[in-house]
Amino acid sequence: MNFAGGVGAIRASPLTTMDLSRITPLLEYLSPAQLVAGSAVVLIFAFAMRRLVFSSLAAVPGPWYASISGFYLAVQKLRLRQGRAIDSMFATHGPVVRIANDTIALRDISDAKLVYGFPKNEGMYSAYTIMGNHQGFSTPDLKEHNRRRKALLPHWLPANLALHRQRFFGCIAALVEHLKSANGKEPVDCLVVMKHVMVDVTALSVIDVNVNAMEGLRHGHVHRLSDAASDYPKAMTLRNVLPGVVWRTLAMCSPRWYRFWNAEKIIWDVPAEKFRELRALEANTAHSDDAALETAIKSESHPCLMQRLIDFSPTPLPDETIITECAANFVAGVETSATTTSFGLWELSRRPDVLSRLREELQLHVVDMSSLDVDSLPYLDAFVKEVLRLYAVVPSLLLRTVPSDVDKLSIRGYAIPAGTAIGAQAWSIHRNAAVFPDPDYFEPERWLKDDPAQKV
Ligand code: HEM
Repeated sequence: MNFAGGVGAIRASPLTTMDLSRITPLLEYLSPAQLVAGSAVVLIFAFAMRRLVFSSLAAVPGPWYASISGFYLAVQKLRLRQGRAIDSMFATHGPVVRIANDTIALRDISDAKLVYGFPKNEGMYSAYTIMGNHQGFSTPDLKEHNRRRKALLPHWLPANLALHRQRFFGCIAALVEHLKSANGKEPVDCLVVMKHVMVDVTALSVIDVNVNAMEGLRHGHVHRLSDAASDYPKAMTLRNVLPGVVWRTLAMCSPRWYRFWNAEKIIWDVPAEKFRELRALEANTAHSDDAALETAIKSESHPCLMQRLIDFSPTPLPDETIITECAANFVAGVETSATTTSFGLWELSRRPDVLSRLREELQLHVVDMSSLDVDSLPYLDAFVKEVLRLYAVVPSLLLRTVPSDVDKLSIRGYAIPAGTAIGAQAWSIHRNAAVFPDPDYFEPERWLKDDPAQKV
């Protein structure tokens, strides 16, 4: 094909005349497709160079292929290898690494402390709304986030949880019954069982409802909240990346896919129903002079989380915020606690030395479960810390965004501009050999040494 006409049209200055006359013979050898491909390569190269050399994060070390775009990181995430990939970047490039064009990962706790007052990163957290409402966990607005924390925190303080303890024992008793009926002969799917225990505990504490998930499991019924709590994060991630039509089509693939697709609504419906009941009860009380009923609602010695949120003052929380926060507790509490306890049990099953030391401590100090004081059980405490260290259920980045009102954030001499996504990775912090010698070894005893570096 002859490009002479097109080339002739831009013969204007001596410079272009000279340049184009040199490349004209070359153009005659190229097909349009080759020309387009060549231009694309040049453009991509220019784009990559701009991000590598002229970006305000150019000085931060990191692999060039990750610094160009978020593509490399996204691929690692889809391969479930993000944590490992970032960890190997730390090994090569040091404790502050540029892992994408606008994202920085931190390995050391001292650096992490500088950023964990910043707002949550919208790109990462916006997927985790529930029925269109932000939950405290996902809300990027600092003021609103603090308001929700203030409302939630008193409920989860150890002193308050101790008031619920007697009712939690009922859930554990159901677990023990289940294990006894398996009789050491039937295999028990530990994770499924623990998720059911956690559904029971969460439902009692959050909405004061006995959903009897564990009891149902003993008769072979998987509780819908157990699956939904596990499905929700994966479903939200998929919903975020798939085109709407593909996401909606997934729901039609099979009943299991429908439940996966519907996880958000399943989780919402349970507290929403309880909320309607409580409001109806309140309305009835308002229209009657039934003092006894009033007392039953208001002066419960240990109200559930939902009742606390309803009573929150001075500015009452909107109805949908109350339901969302209660639903969020199922999302945040079931899978996390079940996975952690399952890993703990797994370690106990292969470490008779740890099991016998733990048993010894419990036999010595626990006389009566109702007066159990967990603070007086240092080995149990060390065991839990070691499980959380090695098997962190949220192992990879929790991103924050450097806000515009922060004046010159500098980490280890690198200037980090506003708008940068930045976060630490628990997996790497927990395996820092300088703080935790022989980091892959499960050793509760390391927590009994009173090492300040570990306790940070
Ligand atoms: C072993 C058990 C658990 C682990 C390892 C765990 C871990 C975490 C982590 C790492 C975060 C920080 C997320 C972030 O900053 O983006 C978080 C936040 C949160 N977790 Fe847990 N969690 C556990 C159990 C629970 C339970 C039982 C509940 C309540 C039922 C809960 C409720 C929350 C809430 C409400 C937040 C949001 C806090 C905020 O943004 O201020 N978690 N959890």
